[in-house]
Amino acid sequence: MEVIGTTADPLAFVRRSAKYRVLVPTMGALHQGHATLLRMARDAAGGAGEVWVSIFVNPLQFGPGADYERYPRAQNADEELCRGAGVDILFRPHVAEMYHDDRSIVVEENSLSRTLCGRSRPGHFAGVCTVVTKLFHLLAPNAAVFGEKDFQQLAIIRRLVRDLDFDIEIIAAPTLREPDGLACSSRNIYLTAEEREQATVIRAALSEAAQLAAAGEASTAKLLECTRRRIESAPLARIDYIDLVHCETLQSQTEADANSLLAAAVFFGRTRLIDNLRLA
Ligand code: PAF
Repeated sequence: MEVIGTTADPLAFVRRSAKYRVLVPTMGALHQGHATLLRMARDAAGGAGEVWVSIFVNPLQFGPGADYERYPRAQNADEELCRGAGVDILFRPHVAEMYHDDRSIVVEENSLSRTLCGRSRPGHFAGVCTVVTKLFHLLAPNAAVFGEKDFQQLAIIRRLVRDLDFDIEIIAAPTLREPDGLACSSRNIYLTAEEREQATVIRAALSEAAQLAAAGEASTAKLLECTRRRIESAPLARIDYIDLVHCETLQSQTEADANSLLAAAVFFGRTRLIDNLRLA
């Protein structure tokens, strides 16, 4: 595995290898959920292709007072996980190189990012779109893997690729869960033991509502009420949002159908966790 620590000329590797490249963009603090992304990248790259990983904690996607400073950084463990997963190139640029002090361009998506997390985190998806655009230009991958846990991000990246004509295949990786159902996330390590125990309520609540929908309940109000009640049964949970949206437009639906996605963001202490479930 080669480690590139500068934006100076990552394309030199591209020109040298001319292999099929599958990129997994990350902010580091890699966990087993990322390992799933890396495995999917390996499969997509095949024996002859290469897996590239970027690790960059992107300041642009953290709001004021959010956890940019305390976001976990685990350089050695990350490098080890990448080596173990057979990653070919690890791209880990410095923030001062990625962003000029007088930078004046951002990439903003103006429809899908207005709902769900976009409402509670203004500017977040512009930060994501800007950095992903830069990574796509810098590393010129043929394909890139994103996790379905960040469902809204995935939908926005697909729109970015379509609207800005990137010739990049976007591969969706299913959410990996802990044995008790909690979605794997770099932020899970912030949780106290008590919060960690109660955080399983998110998945349980989404599943309960999904069962209700499968049994014929289509009223969004009722499905959301069922989800809310279950989440509020955990004393440490503070709901940021729960919504039922169309899985492509991400617009709220009044009635559930085969395209519905139930999504939630819930605080435990200062830690905000997200999860979602497609209603079959
Ligand atoms: O999902 C993430 O880790 C980040 O939002 C991403 C896509 C790497 C952009 O910084």
